[in-house]
Amino acid sequence: MAATQIDWPAWLRRGPNRDGAATSRLHDDRLAAWLGIALGVTFTICFLTGLYSHWGQSRDPWIAFPARPAGLYRITQGLHVITGFASIPILMGKLWVVVPRFFEPPPLRSIGRAIERLALFPLVAGGVFMVVSGVNNIAAWYPWEFFFTTVHYWVAWITIGALFVHVGAKFFVARDVVRERRLTDDSDGDHDDRDEGESATSGGSLSRRGFLGAVGTTSAILGVSVGAQTVAPFEPLGLLSPRNLDDPESPQRFPVNSSAAGRGVVDAARSLDYRLAVTGNVSRELRFDVDELRSMPQHDAELPIACVEGWSKSARWTGIRLRDLLAQAGANGDIECRVVSLQEGGLYRTSYLGHHHTGDRDTLLAMRINGEELHIDHGFPVRLIAPNRPGVWQTKWVTEVQVL
Ligand code: HEM
Repeated sequence: MAATQIDWPAWLRRGPNRDGAATSRLHDDRLAAWLGIALGVTFTICFLTGLYSHWGQSRDPWIAFPARPAGLYRITQGLHVITGFASIPILMGKLWVVVPRFFEPPPLRSIGRAIERLALFPLVAGGVFMVVSGVNNIAAWYPWEFFFTTVHYWVAWITIGALFVHVGAKFFVARDVVRERRLTDDSDGDHDDRDEGESATSGGSLSRRGFLGAVGTTSAILGVSVGAQTVAPFEPLGLLSPRNLDDPESPQRFPVNSSAAGRGVVDAARSLDYRLAVTGNVSRELRFDVDELRSMPQHDAELPIACVEGWSKSARWTGIRLRDLLAQAGANGDIECRVVSLQEGGLYRTSYLGHHHTGDRDTLLAMRINGEELHIDHGFPVRLIAPNRPGVWQTKWVTEVQVL
């Protein structure tokens, strides 16, 4: 795979094409195949869990998002971020191993080969974009103008499409590598299995196994360091977790992504004029002040807030069952709702609830957390809390439930 095999004209023999560049034996097909397989697995997990997250935030889903298992979204989105981070060293390793290939002559041999070569651009650019944008997102650092979620979503389709083409083109090479029938396709035949575990490079001392081990270990370290925000036993290892889930500075020791002051709802939430209304497709519209809500039958549910950023934390929530309120308003059948916040603008001012959620016993208009009245940053006087739901859709400062 070395770049020096290509008979470049003299004026192009510079940079990555210069004689002697990329002579390491680590630029070989076996490593490329193993790293490609690993990347195929992590990107596929990211893609599927990402689609699940997208479905969970759809305002008009073809099929209603399930309310059970209650903690599924925290697992899928935690897995998304863990595998996304674990992909970073694999992607970097893979790019380094195959970099001489990028400088091969133009793709003129056949149409199939031209497609395979052209698909490398969206694959590489898309792969790098996905991990960079994802990491920026969970670090809440947006050095761009576009809306992260939409662009991350569409680039994911392009990247996975290009991955599909690439897997099609490389399937047999990878299969042979896995079966170990064929160790490498280097034309000079100087790569074989004998050097495995020995000094296997001409440009350094790292063996293929050592290289794979270094990539795998770095991936595992990154995955664990960010997975600590999802998987409780890892919490002390959360060096890269952007969240301290037990921060004593956070109100009620529970993380806050959007504060009441930040959303401009402090006065409205504390006002004596506050009302919770049930409107829309009902037999009778309802309106309650805070004292009336407090005097209604209250129920407990142990549920997590599972943030789209991958962190999650459980609490015991206490409040009014949404389905009781809907029954009181005379709403029947498979009910769909829009829940409206006091906040005046923003993408998450409203959220959608499908019939699995409106009918679930644990979908609450919560007024308390772990036995205490909700802090205003957690949604006082009333917030939505429901099973298996992205955190951005657990609407705070609820003022209206519209039956659709
Ligand atoms: C370090 C790597 C990654 C991180 C940290 C990351 C992070 C995230 C986050 C935080 C979201 C939720 C966005 C929101 O709903 O507001 C998300 C959604 C998503 N991600 Fe990633 N991601 C990464 C890599 C990937 C990769 C490699 C793919 C696919 C190839 C992918 C596909 C998706 C998809 C399809 C969504 C759903 C977007 C939507 O709701 O419309 N992600 N990701």
